[in-house]
Amino acid sequence: MTKEIKIRQPIVTVAGHVDHGKTSILDCFRGSTVQSGEAGGITQKISFTKYPLARVQEVCGAGLNDVKLDIPGFLFIDTPGHAAFTNLRKRGGSLADLAILVVSVKEGIKPQTAEVIQILKANKVPFVIALNKVDTISGWKKHDSARESVEGQAINVKQEFDEALLIFQGSLKEHGFDSDLFYEVSDFTKKIAIVPCSAKTKEGIAELLLMLCGLSQRFLKDRIKVSEEAKGVILEIKRDKTMENIEAILYDGELKEGDEIAIATFGDEPVISKIKAIQEIQSLSDKYKTVASAIAATGIRIQMRDKAGVLPGMPFQKISGDIEEIKEQLKKEVSGAMQLNKQGIIIKADSLGSLEALFYLLKQENIQVLKAGIGKIGKGDVVAAKASLDINPLDAVIVGFNTLLEEDVEPGNVKILSNEVVYKLIEDLQEWRGKRHEEIERERMLGLATICKLEILHKHVFRNSNPAVFGVRVAAGKLKKGILLVDEKDGEIARVKDMQRDNASVDEAPQGVELAISLPGTTFDRQLKESRYLYANISEKQFKHFKENKDLLSADELKVLQEIADLKRKKNEIWGK
Ligand code: GTP
Ligand code: MG
Repeated sequence: MTKEIKIRQPIVTVAGHVDHGKTSILDCFRGSTVQSGEAGGITQKISFTKYPLARVQEVCGAGLNDVKLDIPGFLFIDTPGHAAFTNLRKRGGSLADLAILVVSVKEGIKPQTAEVIQILKANKVPFVIALNKVDTISGWKKHDSARESVEGQAINVKQEFDEALLIFQGSLKEHGFDSDLFYEVSDFTKKIAIVPCSAKTKEGIAELLLMLCGLSQRFLKDRIKVSEEAKGVILEIKRDKTMENIEAILYDGELKEGDEIAIATFGDEPVISKIKAIQEIQSLSDKYKTVASAIAATGIRIQMRDKAGVLPGMPFQKISGDIEEIKEQLKKEVSGAMQLNKQGIIIKADSLGSLEALFYLLKQENIQVLKAGIGKIGKGDVVAAKASLDINPLDAVIVGFNTLLEEDVEPGNVKILSNEVVYKLIEDLQEWRGKRHEEIERERMLGLATICKLEILHKHVFRNSNPAVFGVRVAAGKLKKGILLVDEKDGEIARVKDMQRDNASVDEAPQGVELAISLPGTTFDRQLKESRYLYANISEKQFKHFKENKDLLSADELKVLQEIADLKRKKNEIWGK
């Protein structure tokens, strides 16, 4: 390794809610127009930009005069806002050394922004806020610097800005962060700097970059020293017609053509392979160039001999020294991040980073995870979830973050939830679990007893006795074979022996259905001729249980329950009280 390179580029993630201006701000840094070339103006995949020091100096200009910079530039990572913040990680924390959290001044903290804040906080990543789109405040005028812009607006304009700023600071405080306008912050360990900016008018852009320089100098010196060991993270496995490339970020050391690397897997054995060729991303460009070696921090594409089993998000490192030690380290890195439980739900995601982000957020909600994996939701996942049906039906669910069910897989009675937005996924999961819990409670309760009211169809008496067979309509609740029926005077009639609906024997009939029932030991013209309704008998204990859970009953069922209580109380005033 070349002696003079000691400090690498800090890796800076640009994150925030969809459309708040992440790509546009990066375009201002780069002097490019990537944003307008994107399909629908939406960033689809993570991308990186190697940003040289010369460009930092150009953009910051005189502002950099009192800052002595040791860094060779930055490696920016643009993330898609529609999917959740992709938790790019490396050993012992986040892959990002710094972050820019982009927030539109008009919209403030959206759920996606909140999610980013949580993950930055959990990983202790220093960040700066780009309070973007200040130009959309009506009457806003651009000045020479961001500070003058803020201070030099007309009174009503300034008022509107101040209000938005205050609200924003308040919400940030709720997340545990004190903040202030960047020029008011003296101690960056105590306060998050807010840079009002506009990717449209380019105000605040130089100040934003200056903040990153300051934070790098202040916080990152030790963290960004380049060591001998080449280490990185796989981002994506790209397959096109002629080649298969593995896109990765090299965050430490130097990687050469011909080097052997070990890539972590979920199993005990990493994928081990020799590098056939390396391409490196060019400064300020999205083009790659073949190189003999690449030095961190940089974006690379590698071609390898053996790549079966390589998954996005997995860490890798160059093999030098004790292979067993490397294997152990890689294994620890993957398993250490996620402690699975003996019971719980099944989670899948498109990369290790997103899987871990999902895992982390589930843990905060106290939701246990039995199995976690990368890729589409397959047959094996469904089989594993089915096993939970008997143990805890609330766990019979597979949560897919940025991934879907494989086409030919039949989920059966396993619930599949998938979404690109992690907070939505967790919301959906909670909602499903809540509903399912109610259903289970209801099933359990109804398993003990049935609420049912039958209207006797006097025109359809098929047999008077031995057994009596006649038509009924289920007026409310559900009729089940075997239940004991009582008449309107609480006289016991008989248990339902057979139920015939449309010439077929059935075990259950829901509300509204007409069918024939047979009652042994009953003589219709003696016992039922004068009756209009029959009820399913319930005990006092069952009645009390139903009453305690009345929010699980429909209005019709509640009415029937009251009717049953009334007829019981004609015989016994304190029944069920
Ligand atoms: P995703 O990648 O989809 O998450 O969006 P993004 O955060 O990268 O936002 P992007 O840069 O694509 O900008 C979204 C829209 O806002 C585009 O139409 C931009 O032109 C516009 N925009 C971005 N920054 C500004 C700004 O400062 N002022 C104004 N007026 N418009 C802006
Ligand atoms: Mg974008």
